[in-house]
Amino acid sequence: MTALPLAAPFAASHAPAPRLLDLRGEFPAVPADWAYLDAAATAQKPRAVIEAITNAYARDYATVHRGVYARSARMTEAYEQARARVARFIGARTDEIIFVRGATEAINLVAQSWGLAHIGPGDRILLSVLEHHSNIVPWRMLADRVGAAIDVAPLTADGRIDEAALIAMIGPETKLVAIAHVSNVLGAVADIPRIAAAARAAGAKLLVDGCQAAPRMALDMAALGCDFYTFSGHKLYGPTGIGVLFARGDILAAMPPWQGGGAMIEEVRFETVSFAAPPLRFEAGTPHIVGAVGLAAAIAWVESIGVDAIEAHEAALTAQARAELEALGATVFGPADSAGILSFAVGEVHPHDVATILDEGGVAIRAGHHCAQPLMRHLGVPATARASVCAHTTPADIGRLAEGVKRVQRIFG
Ligand code: ALA
Repeated sequence: MTALPLAAPFAASHAPAPRLLDLRGEFPAVPADWAYLDAAATAQKPRAVIEAITNAYARDYATVHRGVYARSARMTEAYEQARARVARFIGARTDEIIFVRGATEAINLVAQSWGLAHIGPGDRILLSVLEHHSNIVPWRMLADRVGAAIDVAPLTADGRIDEAALIAMIGPETKLVAIAHVSNVLGAVADIPRIAAAARAAGAKLLVDGCQAAPRMALDMAALGCDFYTFSGHKLYGPTGIGVLFARGDILAAMPPWQGGGAMIEEVRFETVSFAAPPLRFEAGTPHIVGAVGLAAAIAWVESIGVDAIEAHEAALTAQARAELEALGATVFGPADSAGILSFAVGEVHPHDVATILDEGGVAIRAGHHCAQPLMRHLGVPATARASVCAHTTPADIGRLAEGVKRVQRIFG
């Protein structure tokens, strides 16, 4: 890994220039002339992850937890080592890690297992305006089913969760606070320890959607103080179809299973069933074995670069993108220190047109409501254009984005 010099405007700054990562060569699906600025939707995969997945299928493959032959024992070990690596990566215990399809499934698991057991008529669930649909819909479904209510914390003028307002909204009936660590639209970062302390003091549990945080900042469950934390593997340079639910051990031990089937039982009779201890209690059926192995490889890759180095790299490129977009007169939504994600508007041009014109110039961004319709209503727009950076983004990619926006402005006058 080498470091790239920073492009202007940073080169002119008096502050010591951060060292940028130079990882493009490790991503076979990202040609040098393509600016992939949609990592917040899904990350491209480094060669190390692709090779780990290929080897798992082409050389090492067998089932887990069932076979008595050596290959299966080795695969079981790889699967459980993947769980241990996830646990170390986020400062948790291995038996507090449940493999799921992704964060969406994790939140549905918590809603249907812990939620059905602990949330009832008159109870309240506290969300925020900027939540992704996957952190709204499972709670709406649960609330409708049990007769609970949903409260929604407002945002500050610059697009963060208004933490003081949120904390003031935690009342005696609030059983759960469920919020994003990093907004998938605005990149706003929430102060999780502060919110966790307030939730704990009020006797409420805290669930954190960490999908956009896990790829770009160091995580420590003890320091964050949350009860549930979730992220998806595919945004963390790993495969799709695998994700993580962390739940505090004492909470998990008391949670009923949510899906029944093989692997999650202790003993089955037609009259009664007893269940395995966590985490297997929550992993019914043959799991995504190769997904777990691929996720472990992704975490190993991220750790070999250093999460802090990725965070610094992204911060520099996000600042460059913000400066260039604002210099062109684009409206950038969200706080000035957004983490890796920039939503923007180019005058009145529809974001889909912006994204289509950028695509013609080899720049891939996302345009739409980003599964955050309540936030779009709050911003007063039907959609935004969104650029997101990651470990392999270069200053030239941001330059290409700026050139594309100039072209949008030329076409639309
Ligand atoms: N949640 C993903 C995104 O923001 C899909 O693009």
